[in-house]
Amino acid sequence: MTTLTIERLSRHFTIRDGRHRTVLRAVDDVSFELRSGETVALVGESGSGKSTIARMLARLTRPTSGRMLLDGVPLKNGYRAVRRYRGDVQMVFQDPFGSLNPAHSVGYHLRRPLRLHGLAKDSASEQRGVHDLLDRVNLRPVEVVARRYPHELSGGQRQRVAIARALAPRPRILLADEPVSMLDVSIRLEILNLIDRLKQEEDLAVLYVTHDLATARYFASSIMVMYRGQIVERGPSDDVILGPSHPYTHLLASAAPDPDTPRPERADLRALRGGQQTQSDRSGCLFRPRCPHAFDRCPLPVPMFEVAPGHAARCFRHDPAVAAGPR
Ligand SMILES: Nc1ncnc2c1ncn2[C@@H]1O[C@H](COP(=O)(O)OP(=O)(O)OP(=O)(O)O)[C@@H](O)[C@H]1O
Ligand SMILES: [Mg+2]
Repeated sequence: MTTLTIERLSRHFTIRDGRHRTVLRAVDDVSFELRSGETVALVGESGSGKSTIARMLARLTRPTSGRMLLDGVPLKNGYRAVRRYRGDVQMVFQDPFGSLNPAHSVGYHLRRPLRLHGLAKDSASEQRGVHDLLDRVNLRPVEVVARRYPHELSGGQRQRVAIARALAPRPRILLADEPVSMLDVSIRLEILNLIDRLKQEEDLAVLYVTHDLATARYFASSIMVMYRGQIVERGPSDDVILGPSHPYTHLLASAAPDPDTPRPERADLRALRGGQQTQSDRSGCLFRPRCPHAFDRCPLPVPMFEVAPGHAARCFRHDPAVAAGPR
């Protein structure tokens, strides 16, 4: 059983525009946990900070503040600690075309991590390892596929190779950042089913970053909704999608082509067009310029309110004090 705990993680970027400098809070005080055998989906519009979170978890980007613990132990710095961590936590990227080197065969891509992490002693065990990985991602006949080059594979096959490569160091956590959004619609489910099967077989903890609420609901046990760097709603997948409690989640769910999800009210459609807040204006609810339900409390700092067990939303409409009193 593995748990990756993320505590109050933030990542700020300094943006220089001529003489002006502004701080962009790409990720702002985010906490959650990934556990073996569970998929957590991270959804939200473009620029909301999803990839920045995945990259911090993969230790490709340094957090500005906050900490991460693997099985209760804070992550250490230093070459050996980072290398061991990178074996435990692997990432699958969005672009299967960019993530494989066109000059190297499939076999090369899979041998390298086996060697790097000391999982193959000689070339015979290396070859067995490569064939076993290809078999696990259903790329057969394994001997033939191992000799192929990336340009000889379809997008879906390449993504399978990328997944096999991620599995090579025997990770316990898989970070999948929009793993199917660049693939043909017809093969997306195949790849997601593969990740889901591997999660069960290898007892992986999976972070699934996506724009697609329907697959988030289907593959993840819980969903976190991000808006401008903050988690605005979290909870069991069905609860979040069927009973969205934050106006932003409601908007996302109503825009999704899923017949089960609630349809938008006319007033909500205004929110789709949006209103702009400046980057530096981060007091109170960040969604309020777009929110059809905004009221006088919304400029105040807003915590998460529990709407049901395990289901919470960052919205004053769920403050028991507001619900009880006059508005
Ligand atoms: N290296 C960087 N330097 C400056 N700004 C950055 C950097 N990386 C990300 N950002 C900014 O941080 C914000 C969050 O970016 P991020 O890539 O995490 O969003 P995302 O939710 O993954 O979006 P998408 O759905 O488009 O992939 C964006 O405004 C982005 O422009
Ligand atoms: Mg992204």
